[in-house]
Amino acid sequence: MAITFEYKNFTDENHYLAMCAEVMSVRARGARPLACIRTYGCQQNVADSEKIKGMLSEMGFDFTETVEDADFILFNTCAVREHAEDRVFGNVGALKNIKRRHPSVIIGLCGCMMEQKHVTDRLYKSFPFVSLVFGTHSLHRFPELFYNTVTYGGRVYETGVDDMTVYEGIPTRRDGTFKGWLPIMYGCNNFCTYCIVPYTRGRERSRKFEEVVDEARAMIEAGYKEITLLGQNVNSYGKNLEPRRTFAELLSAIDSIEGDYILRFMTSHPKDCSKELIDVIASGSHISTHLHLPFQSGSDRVLKAMNRSYDREKYLGIVRYAREKIPDVSLTSDVIVGFPGETYDEFLETVSLVREVGFTSLFTFIYSPREGTPAAKMDDPYTHEEKSRRFSELLKAQEEISASRCAAMVGSEYRVLVEEETKPGVLSGRTSGNVIVEFPGGSELIGQFANVRVTKARNWILNGELA
Ligand code: SAH
Ligand code: SF4
Ligand code: F3S
Repeated sequence: MAITFEYKNFTDENHYLAMCAEVMSVRARGARPLACIRTYGCQQNVADSEKIKGMLSEMGFDFTETVEDADFILFNTCAVREHAEDRVFGNVGALKNIKRRHPSVIIGLCGCMMEQKHVTDRLYKSFPFVSLVFGTHSLHRFPELFYNTVTYGGRVYETGVDDMTVYEGIPTRRDGTFKGWLPIMYGCNNFCTYCIVPYTRGRERSRKFEEVVDEARAMIEAGYKEITLLGQNVNSYGKNLEPRRTFAELLSAIDSIEGDYILRFMTSHPKDCSKELIDVIASGSHISTHLHLPFQSGSDRVLKAMNRSYDREKYLGIVRYAREKIPDVSLTSDVIVGFPGETYDEFLETVSLVREVGFTSLFTFIYSPREGTPAAKMDDPYTHEEKSRRFSELLKAQEEISASRCAAMVGSEYRVLVEEETKPGVLSGRTSGNVIVEFPGGSELIGQFANVRVTKARNWILNGELA
């Protein structure tokens, strides 16, 4: 049965913004209150932090990178692997001394880790100086929760309350001035057996078609040169909308907005990567020729155990179709090594798929058990040492492939969006296929498109010169 969602505007919280501003104007150590926001995890979290910063701006906050200077410290956390969680626990522990030195500082935690009860229980016991905790579903309630924290003086915890609503109109303060994230949907329904995201982000819900197109248009008018559409599985965009819409339709509608910009998106799940989508990319005027299509494993048995709903042949079929329609398509992917019970032969099927496809680059992860997921209860006879050996073997294979892909680009000219000056007089930008190119040039080119001829390949980074 289809789940229905409500669509609401973020107005209920507006008076809390003003009330927080009033309290903080008195409480701040400096002339204006300062917030230090640290973001862990994926672009969804980055986009959420931009909303939190938007709300804080309206409360009169400025921002700092230094925890020592801040009146409010917030860590936006990620639960996807143990390593991510350990980093957060370590860094929160280190804030104890800051709280001792500046008792008025407010320390908060939010994001995916906060939607897991065993984590919030541990925090409550071990970190009494953390006074504000809220989960991904309570983002729109941040002003009220923050107000309660500063006025009540106790600890405010709000997690696990998905009200099945999509909130529009939350103020956003984007980190970049020419590159911006644009969430098109939230949550995930796929329940891959290893993954915590469906538990931390709730059921999949799409933003309304017109809202997304309007926001994209506003970003283009404001001078954004790169827009990345975000969702855990953008290919299932629109399934809960009435009338039903597809991601291909959305991409095509945004692509038809006039302007000089590049349109990216992530992440595509192979199970509903349609030919229609690839056709839209092939005929697009602004759409990047990069497809990030995580395959996770090259073994059909493992894919089934992961509940990925596609097999190796289906994946390779998408790759063949993409290469046929978009000859210069750049493919990247995510892979997990050491899923419970994965044999060495099954791992070798992953390596052979990597060689067969020839990815531009790969994000490789060693499986990390996540409490509450089905895979965490599966038998796992292989040691961490064995998994690390396989991991290195995969990295080595991919390094060769990335190097030869980059080498094949030498001599050709690419249009890149210039992103930053990596050292004085050296700029770096990305091709449409998302490959980094470094070349000599002046900082006035940052935020502009430039044509660059590739002169040399250094593993996965290219050197070039302005054409
Ligand atoms: N929605 C995206 C991925 C989000 S998580 C998709 O399905 O493609 C990003 C990546 O983290 C995943 O693609 C996967 O490779 C990895 N990952 C997720 N859970 C993991 C776990 N428990 N252990 C190791 N890697 C994991
Ligand atoms: Fe996790 Fe799978 Fe959803 Fe991606 S599609 S977020 S891997 S459950
Ligand atoms: Fe991490 Fe949550 Fe993203 S678990 S990867 S921040 S959706």
